[in-house]
Amino acid sequence: PLVSPKEMFKKAYGKYAIGAFNVNNMEILQGVIEAAKEERAPVILQISAGARKYAKQIYLIKLIEAALEDAPDIPIAVHLDHGDSFELCKAVIDAGFNSVMIDGSHLPFEENVKLTRQVVEYAHPRGVVVEGELGRLVGVEEHVVVDEREAVFTDPDKAVEFVERTGVDSLAISIGTSHGAYKFKGEPRLDFERLQEIAKRLPGFPLVLHGASSVLQDLVEKANKYGAKIVGAQGVPEEMIRKATIMGICKVNIDTDLRLAFTATIREVLATKPEEFDPRKYLGPAREAIKEVVKHKMRNVLGCSGQ
Ligand code: G3H
Ligand code: 13P
Ligand code: NA
Ligand code: ZN
Repeated sequence: PLVSPKEMFKKAYGKYAIGAFNVNNMEILQGVIEAAKEERAPVILQISAGARKYAKQIYLIKLIEAALEDAPDIPIAVHLDHGDSFELCKAVIDAGFNSVMIDGSHLPFEENVKLTRQVVEYAHPRGVVVEGELGRLVGVEEHVVVDEREAVFTDPDKAVEFVERTGVDSLAISIGTSHGAYKFKGEPRLDFERLQEIAKRLPGFPLVLHGASSVLQDLVEKANKYGAKIVGAQGVPEEMIRKATIMGICKVNIDTDLRLAFTATIREVLATKPEEFDPRKYLGPAREAIKEVVKHKMRNVLGCSGQ
């Protein structure tokens, strides 16, 4: 059934995390849902502005309604990823999403507070929860020196003030992750001391980790073997994600690893069976690859299997 992330996080806090997987089409959705069914795991389906534009919101909503019927025993949340305006948040709340992210992280602090507060005021009376973001997710090359890192990573004092003043239900923080397949140039490193400090100042409050793909090297290698050119890709080591899930991170956002699994598999089929042109012959295996990577995350990284 449709379950609020708030309930999911309450159960998970300090023990495991819920995976938030980006959904853009039917095969990705079905792969994620099959994984959740097999692992008996709660799951957050997240839709970005780009996904909405690509698939049309109504198609995604109808597919998710089908998923809710197909997996009646699985707790499922429907979340807007990186909402960039009040209007977008309002539109998806009116359409039935039960969770939204308002990402004002690029704004000056006061403007971020104001925008986030406005979304909370619309969402809460309608039973919808809100994720805010404080701190900016940037590539590692942009914050090599300590001063610059301080400028982009989440300030624990500000995090407390932000949560109090906005009334958000969860907070995305910046501790060194970034979006996409190229997260670190040298050794991967997350600021766990900062995470610990934020969690200490906001006891029991759900924190969110964006940019949490591990950029699984076997997927990169498989893609490259069949013609891709993905060079220098590096993600967050899975042990680091696991560690974060017991330190207050309740929601782990994963998109890049799904993209890699999907694309590597399609490449493999097209390269090894050049006579095939039935889309089901490559989209089917790609859907299966999504299921396998999501199951792996749930079981071995997030710890949410059986929850
Ligand atoms: O944070 C970004 C997510 O990976 C979604 O990406 O905006 O291209 O749909 P997108
Ligand atoms: P990745 O690019 O690491 O998968 O992060 C996805 C994300 O944060 C979506 O909001
Ligand atoms: Na999100
Ligand atoms: Zn993100």
